[in-house]
Amino acid sequence: MKLLLSLCLAAFKGIRTSAQTLYLAGDSTMALGGGGDGTQGWGVYLPNYLDMPIVNNAVAGTSARSYSDLGYFATLIDQAKAGDYAVIEFGHNDVASEAGVDNGTQDAVGEGYNVTELVTATNGSTILIHSFAYYIENAVSALEAKGVTPIISSLTPDNIWTTTAPIQIATGGRFVTYAQGVSQDTGIVFIDHFDYVAQAYDALGETKVDTFYSSNEHLHTLPAGATVVAEAFVRGLLCSSSPLKRFVNSAGQAVPNGCL
Ligand SMILES: *[C@@H]1O[C@H](CO)[C@@H](O)[C@H](O)[C@H]1NC(C)=O
Ligand SMILES: *[C@@H]1O[C@H](CO)[C@@H](O)[C@H](O)[C@H]1NC(C)=O
Ligand SMILES: *[C@@H]1O[C@H](CO)[C@@H](O)[C@H](O)[C@H]1NC(C)=O
Repeated sequence: MKLLLSLCLAAFKGIRTSAQTLYLAGDSTMALGGGGDGTQGWGVYLPNYLDMPIVNNAVAGTSARSYSDLGYFATLIDQAKAGDYAVIEFGHNDVASEAGVDNGTQDAVGEGYNVTELVTATNGSTILIHSFAYYIENAVSALEAKGVTPIISSLTPDNIWTTTAPIQIATGGRFVTYAQGVSQDTGIVFIDHFDYVAQAYDALGETKVDTFYSSNEHLHTLPAGATVVAEAFVRGLLCSSSPLKRFVNSAGQAVPNGCL
């Protein structure tokens, strides 16, 4: 009896440890607690649509560069095991800070792995920084070396609309292009999350989408908005070639809108 029990336990543990896990790497738009003040990141709602363990490692305020430099990628790479997946989505904090002094998050401007830039740090010293592609592609290589499948996802749109007809979400900037470039350089699957959210927002209309944000900002979503952003990711995943889509459950199969 005892032996049978321990065999069962071992089998159960075996199943549990062999379960594939999805890791999320990103910023406040994905993170638990979003950008504070009652906002929420979309990664918090993703478990409603995928039948698999999801570990949300998104950290508010991070960029491709600071997520690397502060060791968050290293932690994720360490946690993940062969067969797991990792969704990587950055861009909102990767721009230069308005003060013109490097605050540790901006990337060198330009497409491709080998772009570098010299910037002035807060302590006055000059430091060399690298491109978005450099930081992400280094993480992609390390993940793949471990047997983990990375997916690159473009950043979420802001609640900013065109002012002339057709009234729709303003087009994505260079970080959408950079994310696509990472996919071209490495061959990993690209989900154009920006465009899938824009599609969902355009269908709902500006008045409805305004209720997804506090009146004082257009970046961090309230829970209802984060849910729509999570659903848009699932739509993009279902329309991609990623084997991750086999984990999408019936709620995920039912998310609105079509393939772009
Ligand atoms: C650095 O500046 C960027 C761009 O303004 C901003 O998004 C980010 O939150 C800032 N990070 C820190 C740590 O101040
Ligand atoms: C980056 O530059 C190095 C050294 O010049 C070169 O070997 C490498 O192929 C370049 N990588 C890319 C992705 O262009
Ligand atoms: C100045 O700040 C940069 C960026 O954080 C750091 O790499 C460098 O070591 C610092 N230099 C000194 C002299 O403290």
